[in-house]
Amino acid sequence: MTRVHVARRLLPRVEDALADSFELVAEPSGVDGLLVSAGDPVDAALLDEAGPALRVVANFGVGYDNVDVAAATERGVLVANTPDVLTEATAELTIALLLALLRRVVEGDRLVRRRDPWRLDPNFMLGRGLRGLRLGVVGYGRIGREVGRLAEAHGMEVVPIGRGLDGLDQVDVVTLHVPLRPETRHLIGAPELARLKPGAVVINTSRGPVVDESALVAALEDGRLGGAALDVYEREPEVHPGLLWRDDVVLTPHVGSATYEAREAMGMLCVEALRAVLLEDRIPENAINAEAVAE
Ligand code: 8YV
Repeated sequence: MTRVHVARRLLPRVEDALADSFELVAEPSGVDGLLVSAGDPVDAALLDEAGPALRVVANFGVGYDNVDVAAATERGVLVANTPDVLTEATAELTIALLLALLRRVVEGDRLVRRRDPWRLDPNFMLGRGLRGLRLGVVGYGRIGREVGRLAEAHGMEVVPIGRGLDGLDQVDVVTLHVPLRPETRHLIGAPELARLKPGAVVINTSRGPVVDESALVAALEDGRLGGAALDVYEREPEVHPGLLWRDDVVLTPHVGSATYEAREAMGMLCVEALRAVLLEDRIPENAINAEAVAE
């Protein structure tokens, strides 16, 4: 039977579908297929350990910076990801983070739980509304556009920001939706943060290293930045200590795609990719390196 190594536990429907089609093995050696998640590095050494029978890596995630795609292609191994099915979930989390930050939801929650005294004063815990704010969307792809659509429904003005980051200095909110690549590492660093309007805020639901976390902390500490909301970090699961306990920072543990619906659909796309290559001998719809098997 065709042997597949699955790196993480998945939702029951996905695990059942995998068990129906494949022999699931505990170690990633001597296998025909691998199913990995965004946090699992797939490098040349792992591909070699998997062995010469390996034909496909199904990556549970849209971002595939964890996979050495060139090394896979060299070995004739197809790599597939899970786009589209997590677009809505990730865009929703982006808006949730933005609202939480501007309306001080997490800070308020902490205050109530501490049993701090509070009363309904007209100037108590004021935040900012979204209407009229200008949202700069860096990376205007599937997720970036969906964030834009949701933001427009809240009365925000949406400004797509391209590679040159033109217009970055005109926006109230910067939200990041680029893949992690050499050219997007530290895309938002000290110089870019210095260009932002005073009081602007940064939201990141893409990949941690897109933002220079130390520069972000410095910009928060000197009061130029109005706040930040982050779902991803430079050295996950570690978080820069300067971000912890700040009331102008909202932090979530890389949960952009973490809805039942999205995670089940992501898993089923991985199953489909494994089945396509290993059982039906065809290139899966979401292959990112079809050239790995081109004639
Ligand atoms: C992770 C993600 O894959 O899709 C991505 O790029 O970062 C996430 O969906 C997921 O959290 C891993 O379990």
